[in-house]
Amino acid sequence: MPARLFLSSGDLMADRRFEFARDLQLKGDLPAAADLLLQAIELAPNFTTAWFTLGQIREELGERDAAIAAFRNAHAADPDDRQGASLRLMRLRAAPLAGMPLGYVQALFDQYAPRFESALVDDLGYRGPQLLFRAVLSVRAAARKPAFFKRAIDLGCGTGLAAAAFAGNVDRFIGIDLSPRMIERARSTGFYAEFEVADMVRGLRTRPDASADLILAADAMVYVADLSAVLTEAKRVLTAGGLLAFTTETHAGEGVIIGEGLRYAHAASYVRAAVEAAGLKLSLLEDRSARNEDNIPVPGLVAVASKT
Ligand SMILES: C[S@@+](CC[C@H](N)C(=O)[O-])C[C@H]1O[C@@H](n2cnc3c(N)ncnc32)[C@H](O)[C@@H]1O
Repeated sequence: MPARLFLSSGDLMADRRFEFARDLQLKGDLPAAADLLLQAIELAPNFTTAWFTLGQIREELGERDAAIAAFRNAHAADPDDRQGASLRLMRLRAAPLAGMPLGYVQALFDQYAPRFESALVDDLGYRGPQLLFRAVLSVRAAARKPAFFKRAIDLGCGTGLAAAAFAGNVDRFIGIDLSPRMIERARSTGFYAEFEVADMVRGLRTRPDASADLILAADAMVYVADLSAVLTEAKRVLTAGGLLAFTTETHAGEGVIIGEGLRYAHAASYVRAAVEAAGLKLSLLEDRSARNEDNIPVPGLVAVASKT
């Protein structure tokens, strides 16, 4: 995972206390680290990163109520919630499941961009783009249609791995992503004709009706809780016969949950119902894992939906 985000308090003394607290936290002296964080917060009451770290320590110490209070303060101190305190509150069941703060996703991936490919591909055995490629080929083969596409949109394009997998089969790629730093990397691949730094739903909304014959989302729906808006927009933007292919993480229950890794997992029944509700036809839904965690495949799905 990316290095933790540090948002300076703007007060040198408070930042120093925070650094000492982090040292103590890393050495395992959690109560002493918590004391120092409280001192830092006394100097800088809106010190988001100190509140957030305090929340993590309280949680580790089994002090649930104090953890919730600290995460709430972290969120209040930074309305963009770049640390993702609201996600911690969802995990602690202190807040209902909701969308991911866009400021958090952007900060996470801007920070992650330089190490993204080595971390994901080498360390986590990432294979999302290849899974999508095979799934799209198989849907096209079953329909006895060629797997060549004039205009494709890559949602959450990241550094461009999905476009690389489809490069021989797509004439023109548009990349949409929230993270300017990820897009910088994607730009250097030369696979894309156009980019948009935007949330994927907003990015799709700027596209004309029936303007793409393929839409991809490789390991991007894991940052979207409710898939209905993106599926509805994808349907509008697809040409008749066009395909939307995406991966998700999944779980054995019903609906959508947020996992330990702070990514959403969508049940297969949820994906089926959401695709149908958007007016698309589910052409393929398979259990396929796009990445490992601790060398174990994370349960996942590959879906291909068609516009009829
Ligand atoms: C795990 S990366 C995957 C990148 C790429 N698709 C791949 O297969 O390597 C997830 C990407 O989705 C982007 N992302 C997450 N939520 C998004 C959203 N709501 N709108 C646009 N991009 C989003 C992130 O910024 C990140 O670049």
